[in-house]
Amino acid sequence: MIKIAVPAEADKVETRVAATPDTVKRFIGLGAEVVVEAGAGLKSRILDADYEAVGAKIAKGAATLKDADIVLMVRRPAAASLKGVKAGALVVAMMDPYGNEGDVKALGEAGVTAIAMEFMPRITRAQVMDVLSSQANLAGYQAVIDAAAVYDRALPMMMTAAGTVPAARVFVMGAGVAGLQAIATARRLGAVVSATDVRPAAKEQVESLGAKFVAVEDEEFRQAETAGGYAKEMSDEYKKKQADLVAAHIAKQDIVITTALIPGRPAPRLVTKAMVESMKPGSVVVDLAVERGGNCEMAKAGEVAVHKDVSIVGHLNVPGRIAATASQLYAKNLFAFVETLIDKEKKEVAVDWDDELVKATVLTRDGAVVHPAFAG
Ligand code: NAI
Repeated sequence: MIKIAVPAEADKVETRVAATPDTVKRFIGLGAEVVVEAGAGLKSRILDADYEAVGAKIAKGAATLKDADIVLMVRRPAAASLKGVKAGALVVAMMDPYGNEGDVKALGEAGVTAIAMEFMPRITRAQVMDVLSSQANLAGYQAVIDAAAVYDRALPMMMTAAGTVPAARVFVMGAGVAGLQAIATARRLGAVVSATDVRPAAKEQVESLGAKFVAVEDEEFRQAETAGGYAKEMSDEYKKKQADLVAAHIAKQDIVITTALIPGRPAPRLVTKAMVESMKPGSVVVDLAVERGGNCEMAKAGEVAVHKDVSIVGHLNVPGRIAATASQLYAKNLFAFVETLIDKEKKEVAVDWDDELVKATVLTRDGAVVHPAFAG
């Protein structure tokens, strides 16, 4: 019988959990035994009793991992914490491998197959497994909620007997999954929304959400998308033109939400100190890229910094601020993928190493780092 372990997250900042009663029930339906570490779901509002009610066993500490074939986690576990799992066990998590190559190597040496969910190809078959999208979508929503909570004025226009309140101006930088949800959320709250991106495809998406698109649309911009649909690093000349346009725009905004990322690289610096200083007192910047170095020069990771009466919100783990929903979606992403690694008739782990989803996500195998981006 396949044994699936769901340990509690070691990192204190992590409020999410990798399995929910719904996914546990589905795994048990496939013939697996599921062991959840006591308290693992508490920060996502899931009680041990909720897991037990669908047939999971609750274990304490390291006993959770004993003889596990599959370990489900939100964050990459320390290799040293995996004693007790079987050789070749699958460890499925957001592995955050860039810059953490030593830890990835240690997972290889520990003999486990480490699977990085964030490397899931963005193809139709894998949409249901796309943790970057499920979590970025919630981060985009939460960024607007966090901005509204810090902003000491109303977002919507209000016409009241006591006078008219103007709508807040919200500018979203980076219109990928998080940015598009931030646009939609800010619009629902009644703000006047604009957005920018370096990918030409973003323009139509921004406009279809009722926001204004602001960008230097030259020849370089028209070419600026990789085959995978991601942003490219732009030339210094483009960056300068775009920065000038954006600087004039930011000075007129109440709230700026930055979400710009380039895979495998530090986040692009888009909001300078001078731009922050150009904003009115009480304005808010929310930097969703703070864990990757930040889009805003003034952002401090894990803090709400205040510079000349402008708040710069730099919360870590923003999806974890909406943990119950984030866990629900993340756990479902994991189930959808892990299900494909199980032979349902024989009720055993059966990985097709030639499957493109497996090839894209497996970091370590048989004692070594095997992913092309990290091997050698
Ligand atoms: P991401 O998280 O890597 O980056 C966020 C956004 O920042 C991107 O839109 C990127 O173009 C933008 N950006 C980068 N540098 C910038 C700069 N200097 N200035 C302004 N913006 C900048 O991207 P994410 O959100 O993961 O999505 C990337 C693309 O993939 C999007 O087009 C998205 O719609 C698409 N996608 C496709 C999926 C599928 O087909 N299954 C699933 C999810 C996303």
